Amino acid sequence: MSAALKDVDKLTEAEAASELERLAKEIAKHDKAYYAKDAPTISDALYDELRQRNSDIEVRFPDLKRSDSPSDRVGAAPSEQFSEVQHAVPMLSLGNAFNDDDVADFVERIKRFLNLTETPKLTAEPKIDGLSANLRYEKGVLVTGATRGDGRAGENVTANLKTISDIPHTIEGAPDVLEVRGEVYMSHEDFAGLNKRQEEIGKPAYKNPRNAAAGSLRQIDPKVTAQRPLRFFAYAWGELSEPLSDTQWGAVQRLKELGFVINDDMALCDSVEALISHYRGLEAKRAQLGYDIDGVVYKVDRLDLQDRLGFVARAPRWAIAHKFPAEKATTVLRDIDIQVGRTGALTPVAKLEPVTVGGVVVSNATLHNEDEIARKDVRIGDTVVIQRAGDVIPQIVEVVKEKRPADSQPFVFPDTCPICDSHAVREPGEAVKRCTGGLICNAQIVERLKHFVARKTFDIEGMGEKQIAAFFHEGAVRSPADIFTLKARNEAGELTPPIAEREGWGPTSARNLFAAIDERRSMPLARFINAMGIRHVGEETARLLATSYGSWEAFRAAAEAAGDPESPEREALLSIDGLGETVVRSIAEFFAESHNAEALDALLKEVMPQDAEQASSDSPVAGKTVVFTGALERFTRDEAKAKAQSLGAKVAGSVSGKTDYLVAGPGAGSKLKKATELGVTTLTEDEWLQLIGG
Ligand code: IVH
Repeated sequence: MSAALKDVDKLTEAEAASELERLAKEIAKHDKAYYAKDAPTISDALYDELRQRNSDIEVRFPDLKRSDSPSDRVGAAPSEQFSEVQHAVPMLSLGNAFNDDDVADFVERIKRFLNLTETPKLTAEPKIDGLSANLRYEKGVLVTGATRGDGRAGENVTANLKTISDIPHTIEGAPDVLEVRGEVYMSHEDFAGLNKRQEEIGKPAYKNPRNAAAGSLRQIDPKVTAQRPLRFFAYAWGELSEPLSDTQWGAVQRLKELGFVINDDMALCDSVEALISHYRGLEAKRAQLGYDIDGVVYKVDRLDLQDRLGFVARAPRWAIAHKFPAEKATTVLRDIDIQVGRTGALTPVAKLEPVTVGGVVVSNATLHNEDEIARKDVRIGDTVVIQRAGDVIPQIVEVVKEKRPADSQPFVFPDTCPICDSHAVREPGEAVKRCTGGLICNAQIVERLKHFVARKTFDIEGMGEKQIAAFFHEGAVRSPADIFTLKARNEAGELTPPIAEREGWGPTSARNLFAAIDERRSMPLARFINAMGIRHVGEETARLLATSYGSWEAFRAAAEAAGDPESPEREALLSIDGLGETVVRSIAEFFAESHNAEALDALLKEVMPQDAEQASSDSPVAGKTVVFTGALERFTRDEAKAKAQSLGAKVAGSVSGKTDYLVAGPGAGSKLKKATELGVTTLTEDEWLQLIGG
């Protein structure tokens, strides 16, 4: 390492940040040379030194750890190396259950949704800790193999998947189109062998079998993958030209008959107790299985019931992953930071001596709120037990009191905002303290701006949390509209130095940033509403509002009028199924605030919200407002609502002039009367089913 480099101990925060940036780039460059081109340009010792320096800086400045930190990456090939494959049927994720009660709740929800009195049969099988893949066979021939990616599109790794001996290249007697899904994984034994070989040839070891499987599957050269001992369990399917079976169990058996390896530890259960007992059995033999599993997946067996249950967001209602308990570790609490959120909430964050938990280095943990700190009596300097379950933020479980330093003091939660010094107050019944600084609190403004450019809102490439915070602190971006005038102001010489001449920027990245900003001058209504950062209005509510009002003008007019408690607009908002008093009040308050109105007006000069697309515009009920009432007999209310919404209809809780259909079951009362008075079309359950073709 060059002698000019400063000791890590002596780096200032700013120096550390720029060092980490430089190291991330440099290590990525060497990784590419090493893994992708198999042509390293520096010695291994020098390479190790770079990594060591990077991790030393991260240990000293855990907050500065980058999202692209080399510490989180072990030799995976860059993804632009593979072409993209659109999945014909999205590859979903699973909801989680962490204890027996969660499992009972899951089964109850299913029964309620389907209005069943008996527990339907469910399968229970190990949740393999690998990475999922989709294998597409056409007329019995494997044509594409892809990783899950973001669920909609993955990477084309066909050649690599073909090197796995568990994966047949051709199959007989299969449907013309057959997509088989399952998990690519590596056994413990093979993992140990691979790491031994890696060591012998001076290459870095993989952290765990899952990383090894992922790194091996994503090799540029299939010959390298071929030398990696990967395996594949089939457990699901995507597009099919004809069904495999009418049950989950049957379909998986059929996959076995077609030549796939299925997991032997799959059971068919008919009660919550049976599910839990299979789970306990697997937990007990987990260490002897020879490969990593991180829980047990339960799936409703009958495929027609799976169909009726459908999906919420990106996970099926008919399946859940019952996770094994979180991994724990002990470390020292160095400090408690108070972070200020977008709505002023003060959140305590534990700053920990970095420690590895389940293969991941943890240096921050959540402490939730003031009461939580008091309840656990967590003090700075304490030795604490932390746990990490799945991808959730690590938590502090308990304090090891015996190791408490003699001079420790109870933590005093501040009464003022650490950023703007305004009073922090706790509303009665609330667990969080909030900064009252609102519009003058820089922390809140920055958090709102971060939310505005986040992935689920404006998603501006090149304008992440770090960049927007920097633009804010120099005064270049104070409100969302400023983002869109950045280019003009930059060209007019109002920003010094010009963006292209700044550290971390160049002419190309500046040009790309402006292009990315311009691409966002038109924005789907739901994202636009979500981006505004109204308290209690997140992604889901924003989507509901967008599909209910269709256009920005209609939504804004309603939201502004809703300030009047007697207004029909307020009633209409409340009648949207899924919106309650709290949300509606929060929307009205947001629009009543003149500063918000001004910021919006400025933004609307730059950005055009697009009218909302209906979820399914070719269905006969798309865009229609439906109310269900009475004792429904053909389906449960939840099921009816989910189905209607999936067809693009809006489901309202009460009848108004805007109602298109009232679907009335036996015993319908006041709503039916009101609908008749208003001349709303009333349907029986059968008529409704006929209308939607179901
Ligand atoms: S079923 C619609 N079964 O878990 C449900 N997933 O959290 C599709 N996984 O991405 C998944 N073992 O990588 C299913 N026996 C199993 C599984 C399994 C592991 C993984 C899979 C998926 C993730 C979902």
